Amino acid sequence: MSAPASGIAVLISGRGSNLRAILESPAGAHVSAVLSDNPDAAGLRVAAAGGKDAFIVAPEDFSAASEWADKLAETLAAVAPKIVALAGFMRILPPPLVRALAGRAVNIHPSLLPQFPGLNTHARALAAGAREHGCTAHYVSEKVDGGEIIARRKVPVLPGDDAESLAARVLAAEHKLYPQVLLELLKK
Ligand code: GRF
Repeated sequence: MSAPASGIAVLISGRGSNLRAILESPAGAHVSAVLSDNPDAAGLRVAAAGGKDAFIVAPEDFSAASEWADKLAETLAAVAPKIVALAGFMRILPPPLVRALAGRAVNIHPSLLPQFPGLNTHARALAAGAREHGCTAHYVSEKVDGGEIIARRKVPVLPGDDAESLAARVLAAEHKLYPQVLLELLKK
């Protein structure tokens, strides 16, 4: 019989600042594993510094996308997390995995969804003349950045902002919002 699902698995691809914020928060104690699709992700060092097991499941190590998808699902099944938290995971989760994880996989996105799904959110918010911007924690669904919204955190767009200054303000908001949301979801 398999163990009951518990804890959080965090999926990363890059720098891992959200992972760091999670690990430094009360949610950090509940992180049971980190998975990266990128062997060079700086976030792997964040995981190691936090004493967390890290698994690399990189598409280039497989001859077919379906093999990568199978390995990802197998690795997650072995970890058996209650919550799967995407934190800068830059790949679309395979649809069968999204369905298997319905209601348990969440993502942090750097805009006030449903505004600005996808990439380059800060430049797009500035180009649209937005007066406020922010971040959204949402459930993962087959529609990218389109799953049910769990919580949002707003920041102002200030005169003189460029994409970089706005990104930094939003990132700080992500670091506050995401750990809180994950802890709440664990309690459910
Ligand atoms: C964050 O802005 C997050 O909202 C987006 O990807 C970025 C990841 O940053 N999904 P980090 O790797 O957590 O520093």
